[in-house]
Amino acid sequence: MCGIVGYVGLQSALGILMEGLRRLEYRGYDSAGIAWLDNGEIHVLRAAGKLHNLQAQLPATHSHVGIGHTRWATHGKPEERNAHPHVDNQRRVAVVQNGIIENYRALRDELTAQGCVFTSDTDTEVIPHLVSLYLQQGHPFLEAMRLAVSRLEGAFAIAAIAADAPDEIVLARQQAPLVVGLGQGEFFCASDTAALISHTQAFLALENGELARLTPLGVELYTFAGQRVQRYPQRLTWSPLAVEKGGFKHYMLKEIHEQPAVLRQGLESHLIEGQIALGPVQELYAQVEHIHIVACGTSWHAGLVGKYLLEQIAQIPTHVYYASEFRYAPPPYLPRTLTIGVTQSGETADTLAALSLVASRTLTGTPWLLGITNRPDSTLGRLVPYLIDTRAGIEIGVAATKTFTAQVVAFYLLALDMAHQRGMIDQEKLELYLANLQKIPNHLEWILETQTPAIEQLAHQFQDVHHVIYLGRGINFPIALEGALKLKEISYIHAEGYPAGEMKHGPIALLDKNVPVVAIAMPGTVYEKTISNVQEARAREAQIIGVGTAANLEIPDLFQVNLTVPEVPELLSPFVTVLPLQLLAYYIAAQRGLDVDQPRNLAKSVTVE
Ligand code: M6R
Repeated sequence: MCGIVGYVGLQSALGILMEGLRRLEYRGYDSAGIAWLDNGEIHVLRAAGKLHNLQAQLPATHSHVGIGHTRWATHGKPEERNAHPHVDNQRRVAVVQNGIIENYRALRDELTAQGCVFTSDTDTEVIPHLVSLYLQQGHPFLEAMRLAVSRLEGAFAIAAIAADAPDEIVLARQQAPLVVGLGQGEFFCASDTAALISHTQAFLALENGELARLTPLGVELYTFAGQRVQRYPQRLTWSPLAVEKGGFKHYMLKEIHEQPAVLRQGLESHLIEGQIALGPVQELYAQVEHIHIVACGTSWHAGLVGKYLLEQIAQIPTHVYYASEFRYAPPPYLPRTLTIGVTQSGETADTLAALSLVASRTLTGTPWLLGITNRPDSTLGRLVPYLIDTRAGIEIGVAATKTFTAQVVAFYLLALDMAHQRGMIDQEKLELYLANLQKIPNHLEWILETQTPAIEQLAHQFQDVHHVIYLGRGINFPIALEGALKLKEISYIHAEGYPAGEMKHGPIALLDKNVPVVAIAMPGTVYEKTISNVQEARAREAQIIGVGTAANLEIPDLFQVNLTVPEVPELLSPFVTVLPLQLLAYYIAAQRGLDVDQPRNLAKSVTVE
């Protein structure tokens, strides 16, 4: 969603703010702006659209204090007047905000009655007016901010500067991410560490209900009640190179190609002397009777694969919920339930809210909450007592790729470990599963090396396609959903994933020669059934693109094209079937000339409901 960045120190602030905003671009936005202090005055520059629109107007100035923002519109169209920062009528306070101020209408009416004039349609604009009123009453800046945020309802992260406090940035956090970066005689803030990684690797994450005051002399943390908080910073281990494209045309393509290495890294970190090592969560295994998984989007698809594995290998009843549904209609409380939150950003508002709800229903002891993420430094990392770090590192492309396969690895290890420790599989079987899992990175490399030209070629044929159906069964049904999601989010082609056996109950009516069907047909328990379902689609003249082993090509007249993958045990097949579908979506979108890494209307980190 929106991105916040701020700087106070001895360097020139504007360049640092612009670089930070560029680093936040991947989160998605529709306008941007900065505010800085110069000679006791606040200056603001804002522009609709991409960052270069803002860059083009940047003045030469050597201000040492400033804040910046990339906006993803919630209240008000993506126009310059709605872009942040917003200021009060005297231009003594400038504010950027990420989140939603739910009571902004009531506050706006109240402030208008007191003479404030509003110039935007945003919820955020109430904040500078409120802070300004408290400043006029004689409160120092930090206290004015504290009083202002105590009037706000909703989820928000705020950074503000004031003309009367020329060396300060004041921050506030309530249910939206905000971190402070610590330098030497200079301090930064951002909604994501990625914005600051080239300046510092030492970070302090604000908790909900906290304010921070940044000056060149240091950082002070307070609660909304005004109490001082002491906390040690954390050190990030990933390198600034992780946020570069590394010679690839797009981050998404780079991240697709990183998957073999990510999988090796995930396995190496969690296999110690041949034993699965997932940390403290192992202490719960013997007691767990049910598993609930909460997630959104691609992480929800990883959860569906996880359900299959946890039920079929470990025999534990597992439900997968959309986090946005779970939070308002949770299932009845079930004792001995492990709830797993899956999220690549670690900041998805719905997933965090679902997990918090579960925590609030835990009457005694540590809540049984397990997080699966590549961002242990995120809010999720601080919320859950048990965590599996997938080791995928930061992902920049909005379309999740390497984080998905890394989440699936985590589910394999969890299911195998639980199954083994609960006596469902013996040591020999465990070793066989693990040996096959360790071969997957090589299989992915083979697909990348040998199949990419055919996939690029196929992508050309999709130039005029408007609808695509993805079919899969069993463990590959979630991959059909994921293939369809990848295609629609970056190419804007309508695509639907279906369980292949469900086609004849309705969706088959959509098929004709203009609607291609991508059919995942891998050897295993449902292969013959899937082939029959695909025959039904072929009989409606649909063009059939297979994803499966070379055996598919031996079936007369069924597959017009087959995206060939190596033969692997059925339970491991999602790794090899999802990769061609990621590549297909990528090349279709790239050949259409679309903004693959920042598709329209989407954000990498969905921090609002
Ligand atoms: O950060 P999360 O994994 O919680 O994000 C969930 C979804 O927003 C995300 O998977 C989204 O669907 C991606 N754009 C999919 O590529």
